[in-house]
Amino acid sequence: MSKKIYFGTNLKMYKNIHDTVSYLEDLTRLTADLNRDEIELFVIPSYTSLPDAVKISRRELVHLGAQNMCWEEQGQFTGEISPLMLKELGLDLVMIGHSERRHVFRETDYEENKKVLCSLEHGFTTLLCIGETEQEKEYSISNEILRTQLIAGFHGVSTDYAKKIWVAYEPVWAIGVNGKPASVEYANEKHGVIRKCLVELFGEEAGKLIPVLYGGSVNPGNAERLIEQPEIDGLFTGRSAWQAEAFDKLIRSALKKLGKMV
Ligand code: PGA
Repeated sequence: MSKKIYFGTNLKMYKNIHDTVSYLEDLTRLTADLNRDEIELFVIPSYTSLPDAVKISRRELVHLGAQNMCWEEQGQFTGEISPLMLKELGLDLVMIGHSERRHVFRETDYEENKKVLCSLEHGFTTLLCIGETEQEKEYSISNEILRTQLIAGFHGVSTDYAKKIWVAYEPVWAIGVNGKPASVEYANEKHGVIRKCLVELFGEEAGKLIPVLYGGSVNPGNAERLIEQPEIDGLFTGRSAWQAEAFDKLIRSALKKLGKMV
């Protein structure tokens, strides 16, 4: 069977409970006919929307994740969310190290590593986000930065966990309203660097199977070209996915490009 194609969105600090629920209902209905042996679809809503999202979601169709998580189960960590609290909700996925966590909230690779270990130990599929800043790109140290984020982020993670790991490559300069999307050639090249590093860390067999998604200004104009790049396993989309109809269209056009659907 060919590799699955991944499509996901992080709703960031947008959409209240009501809007999240109707978004999920629409997205589930619109995409229900897509063969889940071929695609993996996931949405990462705000914490406050998660309990309702869990109640109304058909998880075999749309997986649900959390945007962040503490590395401890309980304690003096005001404002944090414990893995046990997320387990209580029965989530599928935890995202670690999104660019905004790293750059707005100053999280370090060391902290991301503690979160990754904790998330995997608690049974969550763990999506580690990595990406270089504009300055790091200008200094031509992007590859070193990506390798550092992977090596540090997965420090101490045994190969047994590889099946539960996803990676998103999101260049910081490509994300959000002021972002410029990476060229498909640049994205594909960096995905190659990431793949090589994952193979070094987890071995040939396991390292090759870890899905690596591209994110950062994915839009209807570049989605098809990005997804057809050999090293890109999926699209992690922000703004262009926040209307269910638009996301459904983007997914379908990408799949069509790959010859995967009607
Ligand atoms: P964007 O967000 O698609 O709106 O650039 C991507 C992300 O932050 O994951």
